[in-house]
Amino acid sequence: MNNIEIRTGDALDLLKVIQSGTIDLIIADPPYNLGKNYGNNHDIKGFREYLQFSESWLKESCRILSPHGTIYVFMGFRFISYLYDILDQKLGMYFNSWITWHYTQGMGKTKGFSPRHDDILMFTKSENFKFKLDAVRIPQKYYRKRNNMAGANPGDVWSFSHVHYSNPEREEHPTQKPEALVARMVLASSDEGDLVFDPFFGSGTTLRVCQILNRRCIGIELNPAYVELAQKRLKKPFEGFDSNDPRMERIPCDLPQKSQEVAKQILLFEGQVGYGSPTNHSSGQ
Ligand SMILES: C[S@@+](CC[C@H](N)C(=O)[O-])C[C@H]1O[C@@H](n2cnc3c(N)ncnc32)[C@H](O)[C@@H]1O
Repeated sequence: MNNIEIRTGDALDLLKVIQSGTIDLIIADPPYNLGKNYGNNHDIKGFREYLQFSESWLKESCRILSPHGTIYVFMGFRFISYLYDILDQKLGMYFNSWITWHYTQGMGKTKGFSPRHDDILMFTKSENFKFKLDAVRIPQKYYRKRNNMAGANPGDVWSFSHVHYSNPEREEHPTQKPEALVARMVLASSDEGDLVFDPFFGSGTTLRVCQILNRRCIGIELNPAYVELAQKRLKKPFEGFDSNDPRMERIPCDLPQKSQEVAKQILLFEGQVGYGSPTNHSSGQ
């Protein structure tokens, strides 16, 4: 079954043809307007023009979201507050979380502090939204009776390293996002078989994660070279996600020695099958 649908073109045009209320989850990683080279000149808009662009695609995205749906939007510091305002005040969406994606590598500053995070806004269409905490719990730091040993809520500060240029899974795209980060959104805010949408799929991270986690997905990308790249990525065999939250490897500090050994064995085993490993993974598009 072909669960991943790729559409080439401008998200502003192609969003308009998607039926209202049909999408369960939107993961949007738009150009941040920082002058990145995406093979076109679409990341160098004027301030007002960029806000208009953002409002247009956000408005259409909220229209197509189902009543229990969620939207995650990646953004840098320059425009995040404006996007919050659009979602909250102009579109009347329900705020849920302002997530910080913390990473360790990046540009260095000599005057001021080197930026080491991006922001991700999570809004829902209504108060009655889908959220599956058990699918994204991380191991507790301590074993205590009052702690839920099924795991802890991962919180709103997420550490995932960038997919480094030396990583064999790095694609020819300047802003490829880590798969495990996107997988956390998909696992928390959708069920298997749900329909996920990414209006700016770039190297195809959302498409790939949905393919692995058995979600249907529609993605849009303007640059045909990235479309080709993503198509190739979807044909690759799955050998585990390209990234991981380091806290997934935690073993509660105060577990008795014997239980720690068992926990390490389980981790070792899970490392072989991969986090969020598929039950029914079909390769190809
Ligand atoms: C930040 S990147 C997305 C990266 C992606 N999340 C990944 O993991 O590879 C934004 C993408 O949006 C594309 N883009 C820019 N303007 C667009 C538009 N109007 N419609 C569709 N795609 C667009 C760019 O070509 C770029 O690949």
